[in-house]
Amino acid sequence: MTTRRQLLAAMAEVGVLLGVNAVVTSCSTGTPKRAVQQAGVGDGEWTPPRSPPKTSPGVSRFTLPFRRPPELRPTRDDPSGTYYDLAQQAGTAEIIPGLRTPIWGYGGTFPGPTVIGRSDRPVIIRHRNELRVPVSVHLHGGRTPATSDGYPTDLIAPGGSREYTYPQGQRAATLWYHDHRVDFTAPQVHMGLAGFHLIRDDVDDALPLPKGDKDIPVLLTDRLFEADGAMFYPSVDPSLSKPGIYPWAMNGFYGDTMLVNGVPWPLLQVSATKYRFRILNASNARIYELKLDPAPPGGVHFVQVGSDGGLLAGPVSQDRLVISPAERFDVIIDFAAYPVGTRVVMTNGWADKPVIDQVMAFDVVRTEPERSSIPAVLSTPDMPDPNAAVKTRKFEVKRRSDGMWGINGDMFDEHRISADPKLGTTEIWEFTSDVRHPMHLHLVHFAVLSRSYPALGPFDAGLKDTVHVRPGETVRVAARFDGWPGKYVFHCHNLEHEDMMMMANFQVTP
Ligand code: C2O
Ligand code: CU
Ligand code: CU
Repeated sequence: MTTRRQLLAAMAEVGVLLGVNAVVTSCSTGTPKRAVQQAGVGDGEWTPPRSPPKTSPGVSRFTLPFRRPPELRPTRDDPSGTYYDLAQQAGTAEIIPGLRTPIWGYGGTFPGPTVIGRSDRPVIIRHRNELRVPVSVHLHGGRTPATSDGYPTDLIAPGGSREYTYPQGQRAATLWYHDHRVDFTAPQVHMGLAGFHLIRDDVDDALPLPKGDKDIPVLLTDRLFEADGAMFYPSVDPSLSKPGIYPWAMNGFYGDTMLVNGVPWPLLQVSATKYRFRILNASNARIYELKLDPAPPGGVHFVQVGSDGGLLAGPVSQDRLVISPAERFDVIIDFAAYPVGTRVVMTNGWADKPVIDQVMAFDVVRTEPERSSIPAVLSTPDMPDPNAAVKTRKFEVKRRSDGMWGINGDMFDEHRISADPKLGTTEIWEFTSDVRHPMHLHLVHFAVLSRSYPALGPFDAGLKDTVHVRPGETVRVAARFDGWPGKYVFHCHNLEHEDMMMMANFQVTP
C-alpha cells in the first residue's frame, strides 16, 4: 500500500523534473489510502485536474469598498465564559463582481467572523462541521490546552461537532483561527477557513490608541481565480478527499489577485487621523513588503505597536513591513500626513511571482479632530530570558533528498516527539534554513534573539509566535514553555510546506 508520504515524495521528484502532466499521471497510479480514510468520504471518482488559468478575471482596483469581517455574537456570556457557535459550511461569495466563488467558511463566510474575547474570561466555541471533509480548528497564537489546540489528527468528522475551550489567560493580542487538518491544511485554509480572534484586556483598552471603527483587522490573502469565479488550487480532487497537490507548488501556491478581508484591492475612505490596523498575513505562501505610496513625509510609513503576541514595550517606526505567512503586525497609520483628497496606496514590494504590486488604497476624504495618540510606553511584555534557558535545541528546516520538506530530516509523524521541554522552563531553539520558512510554535510566544544577517531585524520586536527564517539563515529564539503540558506541533507556516511534512511535535512534560 502506498502511503501518502511515499506518493508525495515520488510525485515531488517526478513533478519537479517533468511538470504538471507527468505529475497527474504518476498521481493517478497511486492510491493515497491514508488520505482517503481520513476524508471519510470513501473512494470516490478521480476527478481530472483542471490546469491553472493564466490569469484571474480582471478586477478594477480600488473600486470595491473595504469590508471589515463581521463580529461573531456570543450565544451566552457569563462569568464562566463567553460562548459561541460556529458552523463550517460550504457557500458562495461574490468576490469578483458578477461571479460566484465557491468557498468554505466559518459561518459560511470568508474570512470567518471575528471572535472577540477578554483575557480574563474563557472563550468556548462549539464548532459544527457541515463540510464533506474532516476539519481541525486551531487558534493561532492561543495559549490553549492541547485538547483544544486543534492537533492536526484531532479531527471533527463531517457532520460532527466539538467544543473548543480557550482559557484566554493571556494578554491582548491579534490571534487568528484556521483549519489545521493533517495533510490538508493548505487547501482547506485556501478554501476560506480562516478568521480573526482578538483578545482584549484592560492594559490595551486604557491606551489612547485608535479605537472602535479606527481599530481595523486586515487579513491578507492572494488567490487565483478561474473564468467562472472558482478559486483555483492545484488539487486533483475538488472535494480534497485525495491529495495530489503541490509538486508544481513546491515553494507554495501563489495567486495573482490580492484579497483584503476577502475583497480584491479594496478602497477605504479615511479621515486625516490615526488608524490602527491589525495586519495578518493569512496567505498560504506569499510574503509581503508593505509600504505606502506616496510615502509620508519623514518616511515613517507605519508605527508598529504590536506583534504576534500583543503590544510592544514601545512604538517602533517602520519604513516598510515585511510580513511572512501567519505573522501579525499591529500598526498605526497616520493619515494626517496627507492632504484631504490624497489617495494613498498600500503597495507590496516583495517580488514573489505572479507579482502583486498593490494591496489596497485609502482615500483621505475629510479632516477630523484627532482623539488618539501613541504613547512612548505601551506595555511591559514578559519576554523570555535567554539567560534562564536550560537547553538549546537545533532544528534544520530543509528540503529532504526525496523532495519533501523536513525538520531535522524528518517528515511529520504524529507519534514522533522531536523536543520535550519541561513545563515552566525556558529553552533556546535554533532554526537553520535552506530557503525561506516562516517557523511557528504552538502554545508559546518567543523572543527572537539573533539572526545570521544582520544580527536582529526591524521586525523582530516583541513576543512572536512565527518567525521569518530567511534563506541559509540561522535564527535563535527563546521560549518559556509554560501554560499546559501536552503534545503540540511546530511547523513551517508556508502551508504547502507544512502539508508536505515540515511539521514536528514537542511534548511539554510536567
Ligand atoms: Cu497557524 Cu499550526 O498554525
Ligand atoms: Cu498556531
Ligand atoms: Cu517552509
